[in-house]
Amino acid sequence: IAFMIGAGISTSAGIPDFRSENGIYQTIKEKFKVNSPEDFFSKPLFKSKPEIFYNLCKLMNFDSFKPTLTHYFMKYLLDKNYAQIVFTQNIDGLETKAGINKDNIVFAHGTSNEAHCPQCNCDVDVNEVKHCINNDEVKYCPNCKGPCKLKVVLYGENLPDNFYTNMFMLNECDLVFIIGTSLRVEPFASLTEQIDKHKSWVVVINKELVGNFDYKNNLSHSLFIQGLCDEIVKSILIDCGWWDEFSLKYQI
Ligand code: APR
Repeated sequence: IAFMIGAGISTSAGIPDFRSENGIYQTIKEKFKVNSPEDFFSKPLFKSKPEIFYNLCKLMNFDSFKPTLTHYFMKYLLDKNYAQIVFTQNIDGLETKAGINKDNIVFAHGTSNEAHCPQCNCDVDVNEVKHCINNDEVKYCPNCKGPCKLKVVLYGENLPDNFYTNMFMLNECDLVFIIGTSLRVEPFASLTEQIDKHKSWVVVINKELVGNFDYKNNLSHSLFIQGLCDEIVKSILIDCGWWDEFSLKYQI
């Protein structure tokens, strides 16, 4: 089993997603009066006005949030050795908080648990950057004097190497869960092309219909389950006879 996940699995933790009606992009549009909120996560804007990115990171402070039932579902299947890999677009770090080993996660859009200087690519103490975020300052690189940032992937930046070196795993698995993502952002969305649709099952769990799979054709090995992911995952756990063990283990 492989997972491909997005911001929708963290909304029940209290972290808004990006494109829903009350998502982060709506907040940015209203607060900064802009039409294309994605620009706020772009490399050019960061270089010219790093303080805007710092302001956004303060807005999205993730440190106080807890993993959701869906995060623990991934951990549970990894511990049972049914699942092998999680491709996440999320930077909130809730996968790690749920106890998922970093060796089983591809942070496709980076992580807010590390920091670097994107100019000279040197690592920087993440606590120093978070201190500046919380105090409305900008951390500048001691080497090249450029602005430092949390190690999240901005539009225009490359995804981490292990996104590419691990994508073959999607071709080898029996089942791919795609949960809580609009599948609107490349190259993450194109991971679905790695899936062998004749061999693997694809189960999409999302509040709204997403994914260009042939859900109506019973022979297409793809299933769309519409609804809130925590509720759907709970019913899967119950149907598999795992709910008692799961809820005891994670106190849910
Ligand atoms: N259960 C199921 N689905 C949900 C839930 C929920 N509780 N909450 C939200 N969703 C769905 C929304 O309906 C939406 O289709 O999750 C999806 C989230 O989509 P986006 O907000 O676009 O988030 P995501 O797909 O992760 O965005 C990808 O865009 O801006 C970039 O880098 C950013 O990683 C992000 C990328």
